[in-house]
Formats: sequence, C-alpha cells, structure tokens
Amino acid sequence: MADGSGIMSDAGSDVEFAEGHALGTRQDSKRMRQKISTTMTHPRPYLLVALLFSCLLPSIGCQSEKSSAATDILTPQQLETAERIGSEATQNLEESLGKQLKAALQSGGPEKALHVCQQVAQPLTAQTSDSLPQATVTRTALRYRNEANAPSEEARAILSEWETLLANGTELPPSKIISKPPNQAIYYKPILTKPICLTCHGDPSVFSPELTESLTKLYPADTATNFAEGDLRGAFRVVVELD
Ligand code: HEC
Repeated sequence: MADGSGIMSDAGSDVEFAEGHALGTRQDSKRMRQKISTTMTHPRPYLLVALLFSCLLPSIGCQSEKSSAATDILTPQQLETAERIGSEATQNLEESLGKQLKAALQSGGPEKALHVCQQVAQPLTAQTSDSLPQATVTRTALRYRNEANAPSEEARAILSEWETLLANGTELPPSKIISKPPNQAIYYKPILTKPICLTCHGDPSVFSPELTESLTKLYPADTATNFAEGDLRGAFRVVVELD
C-alpha cells in the first residue's frame, strides 16, 4: 500500500495547489505555477490520469501487499517435504493396490478382482493416510469409473497437460506440486496404464459377460474403458499438510 498512498497524496497536493497557495514558499509557488499551467493546458488528460490512478491504485496496492507477505509462497523446505511425503504415500498405495489386484485376479478372475478393487480402493486410501497422517491420498482421472474420483478443475488442467505431452511423445514429469500457501501442497503423480490394467480398463468388447454385467451394475456411468498400454490412466492426488 505504501507506493499507492504516496502517489495518491502527491495527486492530492496538486489539487490543493490549484485551489489556493497563499501559504506556499516561493519554490512551492513556482512549482505550483508549473503544475497549474500543465493542468490548464491539458486539463482533460490530467483528469484522466488522476481518475485512472484512483481506479487502479487499490488493486495495485493490494497486489504488492500480497506478494510481499511471507506466507504467500511455500518455503523450499516445505516443497521438499511435500515431494517426499507425496512420493512415499503414492508408492505405498500403488504397491498395496497392485498386490491385492494381482492376487485377486489370479485367484478369482476379473469379476472377483473388481469387487475387491471396489471395496478395497477407498479403505486402502484411508490406511495410507493413517500411516502418513499429513497426507490424504485419492485417485482422479479425466475418464473415471467412480464419480467420487472425478477431477477438480486443477486436476483436469494437469491431466490434460500430461495427455498433450504424451501425445507429443514427451516423457511425463514424475510429479507436479501445486502450492497452497501458507501450509498446504497438492502433489500429483501420473498413473500410466499397464497391461494388467487392461483386464478392466481396456477394450470392453473382450470383457467376459460376467465382468461387463458387474461393471454395468456397479458403475452405470463408467467411462474408464478403452485405455491402451502406456496411456495416461489418471493421477494420484495427495493433499499434504505442512507445518
Ligand atoms: C479387476 C478390475 C480392475 C483392474 C484389473 C484395474 N482396475 Fe482400476 N478400477 C477398477 C474399479 C472397480 C475402479 C473403481 C474403484 C472405486 O470405486 O474407487 C477402478 C478405478 C481406478 C482408478 C480411479 C479413477 C476411476 O476411474 O474411478 C484408477 C486411476 C485406476 N482404476 C487405475 C488402474 C490401473 C493403473 C490399473 C492397473 C495397474 C487398474 N486400475 C486395474 C477396476 C480395476
């Protein structure tokens, strides 16, 4: 605000000069005459500039106030912590989900695995959060099976950006961190489609009738099919609470 009010009071004193200068020093009155003559010769632009300043200053003032506040950005240490916790939490979840899926597919086929997956996905997320209390892990995707996993606007933008990178043959970054100062960060990690995922997220025309039936019953609005190996399937999203 300091800059703003400085300019404002300058503009104010110009107006005072123009109205009356009986108490001014000689130097003041010389300056005043220059100012008045400027005002007189170009009255309109001057007024416009003054108006413009009075309109713009409040917002400029607020912006400079905001960017100078220490809580506006996360510290390098906070970002490092977010990266470490995000990476640990997603690795845990990826490993345990992968193991459970594999075991269920081997012992009971996709229909059974699907039920396991459906019942287990959310509790597993909670379990991971218990071992890392400052992290809350969920999954999200542009095309999703469970509506609870629909992407936020932020997630949608990141996933779209990653899809474009993949389409151009560019390798994806291992993660992306969005700062939420003063003490929160969102860690995103891409999830790519592996061959095993195609059992339930691949071409639905080769799904068994049982699997198709279960999917239709459980997820009537499912759009998480027709993926190919290497496609971006979605992302882990970790909300990390920082000190
Ligand atoms: C046995 C079937 C099955 C297999 C195999 C499977 N999934 Fe899923 N997937 C599901 C079900 C069911 C859901 C919905 C879970 C829920 O309700 O949260 C799901 C949800 C997801 C989601 C959350 C977004 C959404 O669509 O709702 C992601 C991401 C995901 N799966 C990725 C994978 C990946 C990666 C693999 C391979 C490693 C894989 N899945 C293998 C059945 C499966």
